[in-house]
Amino acid sequence: MLSIDELHELVKTRRSIRGYQKDKDVSEEQIRHILEVARWAPSGGNGQPWEFIVIRDAETRNKIAELFLKQQEHKREMEIAVRGEAKMTGAGFRDAPVYIIVLGDPRVNASYPVRTMEEKSDSHFYSGLANATLLIHLAAASLGLGSQYVSDASSPYLSVMLKVLLGVPEPLKVYHLIPIGVASTPVAPRPRRELEEIVNYENYDRQHCRDSQAIEKFLMRLTRRGSYGKKSWVEDDAGKAGH
Ligand SMILES: Cc1cc2nc3c(=O)[nH]c(=O)nc-3n(C[C@H](O)[C@H](O)[C@H](O)COP(=O)(O)O)c2cc1C
Repeated sequence: MLSIDELHELVKTRRSIRGYQKDKDVSEEQIRHILEVARWAPSGGNGQPWEFIVIRDAETRNKIAELFLKQQEHKREMEIAVRGEAKMTGAGFRDAPVYIIVLGDPRVNASYPVRTMEEKSDSHFYSGLANATLLIHLAAASLGLGSQYVSDASSPYLSVMLKVLLGVPEPLKVYHLIPIGVASTPVAPRPRRELEEIVNYENYDRQHCRDSQAIEKFLMRLTRRGSYGKKSWVEDDAGKAGH
């Protein structure tokens, strides 16, 4: 059994990797092991909405990277329109030797009780897929491999193009693309909020509830939002940015 210290270490070791060594392969055994871990993810009603496509073919991976870059054009345009500038992630995952596409089958939402199905079909469906996805990342990290979330895989353009390219039938949905490989450079941990800020005992500590200024500071200092863009969501909320 994994000790809590080992688990803690594993969770801290996992990083989102955005550059991979082209000549370092990942074995079939490693991929099977990673997916064997993923299928033990918890899911609402034990509906297990996940299915996976493992892609090694270089031409297919290259096509996917090109499709990804194409869908970035709209994203960039929207960033510039709203925030005045855009700092986009490129297809840094292109060289990863294996891509895993996580698919979801929403028909299994019928595994939930009727009220849950009415209220929470979508959130339960996506929570299940998120759990399997996280286990993939952790399993890869435990093998010393790097991985990344490419959540734009589910954007309308990319998900449709991926479904056609890979022969994915309706009603399956494309959730995330996960490149797996050996990181080209070590990645420093991204900051996390301190435990004291986020944990409350018995009652909610109102001092924890951040005002707009504190949220703004957090967004700009500790999140991806701060790495680019001049207008803030706080301004946006106040209607100043007109969005
Ligand atoms: C739901 C979700 C979607 C994400 N989408 C992307 C993505 O599309 N591209 C990307 O490079 N990273 C993506 N990330 C990774 C986050 O940026 C990353 O987890 C966060 O910055 C913390 O860094 P770390 O993973 O190295 O700890 C996503 C993460 C989650 C949980």
